[in-house]
Amino acid sequence: MKIVSIAEDKKIEKRISITPELVKKYISIGFEISLPKNYGVHLGFVDEEYKSQGVNIIENEKDLIESSDIIIQHGLPSNEKLSYLKENQILIGVLNPFANKEKLYTLVKKKVNSFSLELLPRITRAQSMDILSSQANLAGYKAVVESFAYFQKAIPMMMTAAGTVPAAKVLVVGAGVAGLQAIATAKRMGAIVFATDVRMASKEQVESLGGKFLTVEGVENLETEGGYAKEASDDFKKKQEDLLSETLKKIDIVICTALIPGKKAPIIIKENMIKNMQTGSVIYDLAAVQGGNTAFTEVDKIIDKDGVKIMGETNILNKLPISASSLYAKNIFNFVSNLLDKDNNKIKINLEDEIIEKTLIK
Ligand code: NAI
Repeated sequence: MKIVSIAEDKKIEKRISITPELVKKYISIGFEISLPKNYGVHLGFVDEEYKSQGVNIIENEKDLIESSDIIIQHGLPSNEKLSYLKENQILIGVLNPFANKEKLYTLVKKKVNSFSLELLPRITRAQSMDILSSQANLAGYKAVVESFAYFQKAIPMMMTAAGTVPAAKVLVVGAGVAGLQAIATAKRMGAIVFATDVRMASKEQVESLGGKFLTVEGVENLETEGGYAKEASDDFKKKQEDLLSETLKKIDIVICTALIPGKKAPIIIKENMIKNMQTGSVIYDLAAVQGGNTAFTEVDKIIDKDGVKIMGETNILNKLPISASSLYAKNIFNFVSNLLDKDNNKIKINLEDEIIEKTLIK
C-alpha cells in the first residue's frame, strides 16, 4: 500500500502532512511512502532525512499521484492534480466540503474516496485524529502570543523600586478548544483572565484554569447535543452586550474564538464596546476567516479603531507550522491506521465505523 503527499501552495499553507518522525510508523504498519523533491525543506526537513527513514522521492508529480493508494494533504489540491486521481484511490485532508462541493462531487463520480477530517465525529475514539482540536489548541496559544507582542505594556504584575506595573487583563470570548488554551497561555504569562461562553459547561473548565467566568445571567444554556454552540437569541445577545460593555472598560486584550458550526461567526464586540476600551488595547480575532467576532475585523490586516488594534489572519498556524504539522501528521496517521482491516491489514472502507462513515464525502 502506497501513501504519498504532494506540495501545498506554500503562499497559503506551510503545514505538511507527513513529517519524518512518522515515516517509520507508516512503514511498520505496511505502507510505502513517496514524496516530491523538497517536500519539507521549508520546515527544515531535507530530502536526505526523509530518505534515511525509507521515503522514495519521486520528482514528477503526476507519477507520484498516480502511483498512490492514499494521498494525504491539508487543502484540496488544484483541479489539474485532482484530474490525475482515479477510481479507488483515497484522498485525505481538510477538504472544506461546503466550499468545494462541486470539485468533491467530481471525485465522488470518479469513485475516488475522499475523506474530510473536519467532519470527524467528536467521540472519544476519534480524539487522537481530531485535527480541529489539535490545530485550535495551537491557534489559541499563538493568538495570545501575537496579541501580547502588539500590546505596548507588560503582561505580568511587576513590583519594582520605581513603582508597580499592573498585570494585564485579558478577556477570552468563546471557551472551546482554542479559548481554553488561550486562557491557560495568558494565565501562565501572568495576565488576569476573564472568559465567557454560551455553553455553561465551559464555566467549570474556565475556572479550573484560573480564569473568571462571566455568566450571562437569566438565559438558557446554548449547547447542542454534540457539545457545540447554538445561535444566541436576541435576549441573550442584549444581555451579553450589556455584560461585555461594562467588562471591556477594564480589559487590555481580547482573544475572540466564538464560532457556530456552519454559520457566520457571531459579531460580539460592537462599535460602542470598542469605544469603551482603553487606547492601546488589542483584539486578536481567531474567528476572522469566518467573518470575525468584531464589527471591524479584516483578515490579514491590523485595523486601528479608536486607538484599539484589531487583528486576525487567514492562517495563524502558518506561524508555527512545525508544531502544527507534527500534530496534524499524527492525527492523519491515526486516521489511516483506523482504515486498516484488523484481520488482514488491508485498507477497508467500513461504513459501519462512524469515523469512516461521517468523514467520507458521498
Ligand atoms: P467552536 O470552535 O465551534 O467554537 C468556539 C467556542 O465559541 C465554543 O466554546 C462556543 O460555545 C463558543 N461560542 C459560540 N458562540 C458564542 C457567543 N455568541 N458567545 C460566546 N461564546 C460563543 O468550538 P470547539 O472549540 O471546537 O469546541 C466545541 C465543543 O466540542 C466543546 O464543548 C469542546 O469541549 C468539545 N470537544 C469535544 C471533543 C471530544 O472528542 N469529545 C474534542 C474537542 C472538542
